[in-house]
Amino acid sequence: MRDVAIIGIGCTKFGEMWHKSFRDLFIEAGILALEDAGISGAQVEALYGGNMSSGIFVEQEHVGAIIADYSGLVSNNIPSTRVEAACASGGLALRSGVIAVASQYHDVVISAGIEKMTDVGAEKAIDALASAADREWEAAVGATFPSLYAMMARAHMHEFGTTRQQLAQVAVKNHSHGALNPRAQFRNRITIDMVTSSPLVADPLRLYDCSPITDGAAAVVLVPAERAREFTDTPIYVKAATQASDTISLHDRRSLTTIDATVVAAHRAFKTAGLQPRDIDVAEVHDCFTIAEIMAIEDLGFFNKGAGGPATLDGETAIGGKIPINTSGGLKACGHPVGATGIKQAVEIVEQLRGEANKRQVDGAEIGLTHNVGGTGGTVVVHILSR
Ligand code: COA
Repeated sequence: MRDVAIIGIGCTKFGEMWHKSFRDLFIEAGILALEDAGISGAQVEALYGGNMSSGIFVEQEHVGAIIADYSGLVSNNIPSTRVEAACASGGLALRSGVIAVASQYHDVVISAGIEKMTDVGAEKAIDALASAADREWEAAVGATFPSLYAMMARAHMHEFGTTRQQLAQVAVKNHSHGALNPRAQFRNRITIDMVTSSPLVADPLRLYDCSPITDGAAAVVLVPAERAREFTDTPIYVKAATQASDTISLHDRRSLTTIDATVVAAHRAFKTAGLQPRDIDVAEVHDCFTIAEIMAIEDLGFFNKGAGGPATLDGETAIGGKIPINTSGGLKACGHPVGATGIKQAVEIVEQLRGEANKRQVDGAEIGLTHNVGGTGGTVVVHILSR
């Protein structure tokens, strides 16, 4: 196996992109990544595209082929593969690209993520998202994603004393980071009072506890580490790309307050990289709901179980704190185009490690982590990246 480096990144603006089609979005992200890497499309040998549900959102399947075709890469007949793991599709597309380069199958690979969610109404979008849960045992009886995470939130509050204010502070902090990110869907700062008085979605989760419905795409270019400096002076190295699975249904889990697939994927990642949680300078974690960020920072080992809420309220996860989390604004404020999120997380960490994150820059960031969750934790993908 060879080491792998990221030499190019590209990301569209996230939000309601009425003026751009599904294909416009992935073409934009891909061109940005190629330009950033300083290579032409003709040099790309393989493509992995993370996408969860384009069949429902834009009535388009066969996503691998359409990406290759409309990106102008079909003339070389390169292999182009759609990767699907619900909201972890992007993270898995990155891991698939890393494996392709590490195993010496290909030298220059694009891993991308794309979702266009706002072309359907909210009811249809929420039902599409519910298909990432167990359709027979959860979704069919009315369990939406907000309601599943609401059960996790209630259990966490009961078991660890996590408070409504601590949950709200996750959203307040991520909106304050999003306000600094030109790509973010929401750039407005909010207060704890605004979160706790926003409309109830699934008790105890309110509107501002939820990630939104979003359009967007992102892409990265991967090459063998030994060739990275042929293309760039600022390669970012992939120290670990790990994945773990768990039961798809929440009721089959050992615990409602720990996502075991996160614990296992993180353990594998730290072991592969020869690092500890305390070595991470900045992380993008899967905050699809405020409780998800609190559970993630505990399950990844940044804080002890039950300490995630108090640490958030104390500012330890804000830029300037002990371990800045979701400097992009996270899923909450940057937005959550489900298939693209895992790649956007890598784009943000690469910018941080290159020192190109402008007002969001974490001083001296050398090692970063991404954490991407499918469903309520049926799939988790973790990457550790280093300067
Ligand atoms: N955070 C902040 N504001 C939001 C928001 C969010 N998550 N979602 C919508 N808004 C805002 C909109 O911008 C709009 O503001 P405006 O009136 O000033 O234009 C307003 O709230 C109403 O928007 P609307 O689109 O009608 O919201 P909705 O009620 O249809 O949907 C949710 C709100 C929370 C139900 C929806 O965003 C949702 O389901 N989120 C979860 C997505 C999900 O499950 N993802 C997968 C996770 S694993």
